[in-house]
Amino acid sequence: MVSTPEAPVALITGSSRGIGRVLAGKLAAQGANVVINYKNNEDLAEEALAEVRAAGGDGITVRADIEQPEDIDALFAAVGDRYGRLDYFVASAAASAFKPISQLKLHHLDRNWAMNVRSFVLGAQRAVELMPQTGGRIVVVTSYGSLRAFPTYASLGAAKAANESYVKFMATEFGPRNITVNAVNGGLIDTDSLEFFYGVPGMAPMESVLEKVPLGRAGTADDMASAVQFLLSPAAGYITGQVLTVDGGLTVVAPPFWVDTTGDLHDAVFGVTTDR
Ligand SMILES: NC(=O)c1ccc[n+]([C@@H]2O[C@H](COP(=O)([O-])OP(=O)(O)OC[C@H]3O[C@@H](n4cnc5c(N)ncnc54)[C@H](OP(=O)(O)O)[C@@H]3O)[C@@H](O)[C@H]2O)c1
Repeated sequence: MVSTPEAPVALITGSSRGIGRVLAGKLAAQGANVVINYKNNEDLAEEALAEVRAAGGDGITVRADIEQPEDIDALFAAVGDRYGRLDYFVASAAASAFKPISQLKLHHLDRNWAMNVRSFVLGAQRAVELMPQTGGRIVVVTSYGSLRAFPTYASLGAAKAANESYVKFMATEFGPRNITVNAVNGGLIDTDSLEFFYGVPGMAPMESVLEKVPLGRAGTADDMASAVQFLLSPAAGYITGQVLTVDGGLTVVAPPFWVDTTGDLHDAVFGVTTDR
């Protein structure tokens, strides 16, 4: 499919890398115009735009630090100037300090809120203003830190929980405009930020967590982008105020774990091993 002026317009924050970038390619393959937002990596944003064009879509890149309200204004102004409307707003960019709560300083708390929660609310306000009378879609990318507690993730987890709460309130307020609002909640997803998190000094090895995931692997950016794409599709038109979890089952398991069982119990799930 080739992009046309009537094609949907999508703004994805943090789409120079990771989940946002994969989503940009998927929407482009449907002919969308995609606004690639980034903070630091202009080269990667231009690569993402080249991928969008190669996939059959079109778009622009816009540098905007979403921690800064004036940058958010400029980002949406750029969308309005270029396209005059917005159909899909996907809030994917995130950043935070990974520290024990006892070590969180005032600036960590304030910046975490500004970057991960305030930016979503300000973005949604501006997105709604640009959405046509026929409606639109808003999706925020959250994580299992909104549901479960683990080392150093308190700030970001609390922000993701706040976003999921905003999703419910936005769904009721924007519903009459035919705008749906949902979250996609990811488990361990194989991107740069996963490497960064497991690189925190003293963090438990990633393998010790992956073996607990019922599907036995990390998710991919494609797994996440596919779920967002579904929520943007006509098939999801009556779904709003929801959190769609994409975590390979991570948030439904609890100790004792199958991988820690032995003997017949272990064999019943993993098959008979020859080394015992
Ligand atoms: N990876 C996981 O394990 C995982 C799991 C669950 C949920 N998630 C969530 O998925 C979303 C995407 O994560 P990811 O792993 O795909 O990210 P990523 O690969 O680390 O990419 C982050 C993106 O955000 C942009 N960004 C960072 N700070 C920004 C700012 N202040 N303003 C604008 N853009 C900014 C980056 O742009 P630059 O490169 O230009 O800085 C980059 O495009 C996040 O909300 C994350 O919490 C991730």
